[in-house]
Amino acid sequence: MKISIRNAEKEDIEGIMCVEHDSFHSNIAENADTFLERIETLPNGFLVMEINEEIAGYISSELWDYSENINIEKFKLGHSITETHKNDGKELYISSIGVLEKYRGRGYGNTLFSELVSRICSKYEISSIVLIVSENWHAAKRIYEKSGFHEIQIIKCFFDDDEKSDAIVMRKQI
Ligand SMILES: CC(C)(COP(=O)(O)OP(=O)(O)OC[C@H]1O[C@@H](n2cnc3c(N)ncnc32)[C@H](O)[C@@H]1OP(=O)(O)O)[C@@H](O)C(=O)NCCC(=O)NCCS
Repeated sequence: MKISIRNAEKEDIEGIMCVEHDSFHSNIAENADTFLERIETLPNGFLVMEINEEIAGYISSELWDYSENINIEKFKLGHSITETHKNDGKELYISSIGVLEKYRGRGYGNTLFSELVSRICSKYEISSIVLIVSENWHAAKRIYEKSGFHEIQIIKCFFDDDEKSDAIVMRKQI
């Protein structure tokens, strides 16, 4: 099995969208334009994992100015990265991660997550990492808790999925 992790390119969009639709309820899946803008704005912040030349997973991120109390508008799905990203921001915001269902439970999500964090922290001056997760996304929550993230805020009924699930905002200081 040939596995590699590299910066995403615009040509990967079809594979990235397959992962997105395999990973999220249709109401909360991002669209291709949102991803293309992320790839263009911060290429180092968007990684894909390829398994035998198939896009098996992706992770995307932005750099934000640190703020103790984050304006929840910044988490809005479908927001433009150009409105929130700051090239010299000290906080890494992980906007999304997904792995094709057929490859889940083998450690790939963990690997992709750690790889993004380590690549970004070696290239930029990062002092904290923030993300949101649904209370129902158990595998993702496990990854974040294991790597030292703590809950800092709950946004009630944030996700427009069947359960109208809450978003848990999690942060880790570096
Ligand atoms: C989140 C996701 C990317 C993780 O990818 P993965 O390859 O399945 O993750 P891993 O195999 O690395 O497992 C991560 C951890 O979650 C645990 N886990 C997996 N499924 C779980 C479940 N249903 N309940 C609790 N823990 C679970 C694993 O045991 C592992 O923990 P461990 O290292 O202590 O054993 C993947 O599940 C996914 O795409 N989910 C749908 C999209 C999503 O929820 N994205 C998160 C956005 S915040």
